Amino acid sequence: MQIFIDSADAAELKALAETGLVDGVTTNPSLIAKAGRDFFETLREICAAVPGPVSAEVVAQDYETMIAEGHKLRTVAENIVVKVPLTRDGLRACKTLEEEGHPCNVTLCFSAVQALLAAKAGATFISPFLGRLDDGGQDGMGLIREIRMIYDNYDYQTQILAASIRSGAHVRDAAIAGADCATIPPAVFKALYKHNLTDSGLEAFLKDWKATGQKIL
Ligand code: E4P
Repeated sequence: MQIFIDSADAAELKALAETGLVDGVTTNPSLIAKAGRDFFETLREICAAVPGPVSAEVVAQDYETMIAEGHKLRTVAENIVVKVPLTRDGLRACKTLEEEGHPCNVTLCFSAVQALLAAKAGATFISPFLGRLDDGGQDGMGLIREIRMIYDNYDYQTQILAASIRSGAHVRDAAIAGADCATIPPAVFKALYKHNLTDSGLEAFLKDWKATGQKIL
């Protein structure tokens, strides 16, 4: 499964990319607002730090302006993916942009039929928001499973990008459900490699090694 980071904090993304485990980035207008910096400068820095797909979202709601915004976003860097909302105009813009060769991530997906339409529009990525469904008492992971089945039934190539991830358990379950990618907030990513038994096990190994009085270097 590809690991994307859900953030617009360019400095933090650069540091996380040093792990060699980050395959891409997703931003959204709220994350850009939180970062509090110039949109295009931020995108340029992120695209330079992470060579994989970097989603940048249009803010227009009508087809024509979405296309114009998508074209402008794609001039920022080769690895920009145009993020469009799952609306009538967003799907139409996705179809046009994809036909022109611009990869799109259809965002704010909350149902399997929405995901079906995104695949028919030729989207490179579909972003089902599982955490927000769970927050509302619905079954976010069930949605990932449904989309996986539908895409496999018809051999759609659209990649399932599990979004709105809240925990390591979400990452695990999305991987089990067959999501192609998960976009993970930095704090959740940093917690993924932590385990108390790893920490205590390492402490014991190092104590025993020290007692031998030997060195590797
Ligand atoms: C996905 O691309 C979105 O940016 C993101 O996952 C939204 O998550 P949230 O529900 O934590 O805002």
